[in-house]
Amino acid sequence: MQPNTHLQQLDGNYLFTEIVRRTEAYRQANPDKQILRLGVGDVTRPLPQPIVEAMLRAVEEMGQTDTFRGYGLENGYAWLREAIIENDYRPRGVTLDIKEVFISDGAGSDIGNLGELFAASNRVAIPEPAYPAYVDSSLMAGRPIEFLPCTAENGFVPSLPEQRADIIYLCYPNNPTGSVLTRGQLAEWVNYARAHQSIIIYDAAYEAFIQDPDIPHSIYEIEGAKEVAIEVRSFSKTAGFTGVRCGYTVVPIETGLQAMWLRRQCTKYNGTSYISQRGALAAYTPEGKAAIRANIAYYQGTAQLLLNGLRALGYEVSGGVNAPYIWCRVPKGYDSWSFFEYLLHTCQVVCTPGAGFGPSGEGYIRFSAFSDRHDCEMALERMKNIG
Ligand code: MLT
Repeated sequence: MQPNTHLQQLDGNYLFTEIVRRTEAYRQANPDKQILRLGVGDVTRPLPQPIVEAMLRAVEEMGQTDTFRGYGLENGYAWLREAIIENDYRPRGVTLDIKEVFISDGAGSDIGNLGELFAASNRVAIPEPAYPAYVDSSLMAGRPIEFLPCTAENGFVPSLPEQRADIIYLCYPNNPTGSVLTRGQLAEWVNYARAHQSIIIYDAAYEAFIQDPDIPHSIYEIEGAKEVAIEVRSFSKTAGFTGVRCGYTVVPIETGLQAMWLRRQCTKYNGTSYISQRGALAAYTPEGKAAIRANIAYYQGTAQLLLNGLRALGYEVSGGVNAPYIWCRVPKGYDSWSFFEYLLHTCQVVCTPGAGFGPSGEGYIRFSAFSDRHDCEMALERMKNIG
């Protein structure tokens, strides 16, 4: 046996695992301290009641002989795929064929797995700082990567690649910087991909946070995007599915990849649980939609609180308006990880060190609005007290 040595290029620990590890070590050494979690974006609101009820009904069905279901379709039940098209795409002028929608166990898994569609020699372009899965999965496949730095100087908006890219990862609204692309800026990427026969893997997990009407929610709002883009979405951050697992990926027929992705999924994926899919469907009922709107409004209020509070304390912050993440420059004399440790030890506030998202994230930390509102107020109060 020869191991896949590409895996040896990865950082020793996955970023979010390392944060949990350090937080846990601190908790064990300081059991009397109350830790405020503004780091990993999974401190979401609990599952909305209409979703809980739909899942309970689905569990009951699975417990009866005549309503029990075995494996579902590998690409998901038609009723969920139709609801996605009708609710998430048609109102934005995007027409999709049901075959183009694939239900998954979450955006994270699909982002990692989609790379199997492409040859190992393909060149990858990744704006950084970036959600670590784009880089990690490209490294695991042994693909050459061109990083596109996103800094305060370019407004956290990447330039087009210098060398021809076959695969491009874009995430908007952006994790971790909270930046967005205008319609015109996104059109430049679509035009680039069409001119160079590249594929864009577009991570739209945070589209529900967009408030500005000029910001596209889906890459398919841009003309020609169906030829060159795969879009990945999630129920985690809207409907609290972080621990349930359900998302979806759109692979348009025009990309020439739809049949290949279906074939891959049929072999490697036995489908998303019926119970999760019934829960996801309830997100599109009037009650489910109202509950999700309330969740998003809650996170947006928390993001605003953090933005204003951090600004008032003198921090340089951005993001947090059309996105749930606040990107914050660390004070002089610190780097990302040392300020992470400082906040943990002096305020018991957990953030995410920007350097964990790539070299251009050094000198920054990220705060997540997927946090308890009262915890955020306490975090700001404690940070005020340390000066
Ligand atoms: C984050 O904190 O960036 C997210 O929770 C990551 C994820 O959803 O996997």
